[in-house]
Amino acid sequence: MTILVTGGAGFIGSNFILDWAADSDEVVVNVDKLTYAGNLKNLSSLGGDCRHVFVKGDIGNVELMSTLLSQHKPRAILNFAAESHVDRSIHGPADFIETNVVGTFGLLESTRAYWSALPDAEKIAFRFLHVSTDEVYGSLEKDDAAFREDSRYAPNSPYSASKAASDHLVRAYHHTYGLPVLTTNCSNNYGPFHFPEKLIPLCILNALSGKDLPIYGDGQQIRDWLYVKDHCAAIRRVLECGVLGETYNIGGWNEKTNLEVVKALCGVLDELKPLAGARSYAHQITFVRDRPGHDRRYAIDANKIATELGWTPKETFEAGLRKTVQWYLEHQEWVNEVSTGAYRVWMNAHYKVESRS
Ligand code: NAD
Ligand code: DAU
Repeated sequence: MTILVTGGAGFIGSNFILDWAADSDEVVVNVDKLTYAGNLKNLSSLGGDCRHVFVKGDIGNVELMSTLLSQHKPRAILNFAAESHVDRSIHGPADFIETNVVGTFGLLESTRAYWSALPDAEKIAFRFLHVSTDEVYGSLEKDDAAFREDSRYAPNSPYSASKAASDHLVRAYHHTYGLPVLTTNCSNNYGPFHFPEKLIPLCILNALSGKDLPIYGDGQQIRDWLYVKDHCAAIRRVLECGVLGETYNIGGWNEKTNLEVVKALCGVLDELKPLAGARSYAHQITFVRDRPGHDRRYAIDANKIATELGWTPKETFEAGLRKTVQWYLEHQEWVNEVSTGAYRVWMNAHYKVESRS
């Protein structure tokens, strides 16, 4: 048996493949374009493992995807591939439309052609699982109820709008063609292999190199944080027993303001890598210009996946954050590699020119 994962050299996709390989003998075909966010080093522990087949490619390349599907005959496709960083989508939305909308459309077309030609039993067993985000629901006020699966879509950034469009396409392929799809909408992940343009890894690395910890606006925006391994377990659960055509919200029941998150990680660093003179890393916190259109609060109601599929998160925020900080302290080579080249150019432009208050 084989599954096909897209975007498997990125943050969540690579964690998913590593967890899958630890648990299953089923082959994973991993199709990734290797943009700035894709890093095969994330999967280096798999070495020459023949259960992992990597193909450098674009999900929107229908010819390539069709060839791969007829060659490997996967029983399921899990679509992680996306442009994922909100700030980048504000600076340059085109790549987000290209991959998240047009790319997903291309992938759905190659999948539909492959699935339509499968023998009946395989057709029934086949699954297309689309990995999406809570950002499609827009922004909540402080006392609003958390996002449910039937909350109205109200995406506010080019990123979330492009993900919302992809969710709608996936839904339409189920409704119109009967494609057996599942969609998950998850809150903010954190953990190993998180690319350091996102809040938590950025602040860990900036803290360690004596740089500012940039907090957008007043730092009172709220996110719901989930340890990445919990997200991967939830996706496996949905793949195994999710109801076709349904969407599942995934979250950590763990709402924190950005300032709370950064202070918490400073606390962990103070303990694990103390600064001279018992100074706290918190002295590096700096308030910078806010993200345009910044969503104030996300919160996930994860009751459906808990009651219907029996999934709940295992990791507390405190334990997950500690593991994450520890991981970054122990993986200096990985950090050095991602901190060079195009990534550094983007960071310099974004923080020094655009965001500083
Ligand atoms: P990431 O940016 O770390 O990784 C994305 C991967 O997709 C990279 O390896 C990149 O090379 C690849 N990719 C980009 N365009 C591609 C294309 N056209 N064809 C093939 N591969 C391509 O992202 P992530 O944080 O791992 O997110 C994975 C998925 O989960 C995304 O769909 C994202 O919207 C969703 N998600 C992320 C979070 C989060 O907190 N990170 C939360 C909820 C949902
Ligand atoms: O909610 C799920 C989403 O979470 C995913 O769909 C996205 O792919 C993922 O990138 C993440 O989006 P966010 O915009 O919430 O994540 P980010 O780490 O960029 O920012 C988290 C919060 O911290 C957000 O309110 C913006 C703020 N922030 C971010 C950065 C990079 C800062 O205050 N300073 C920063 O330097």
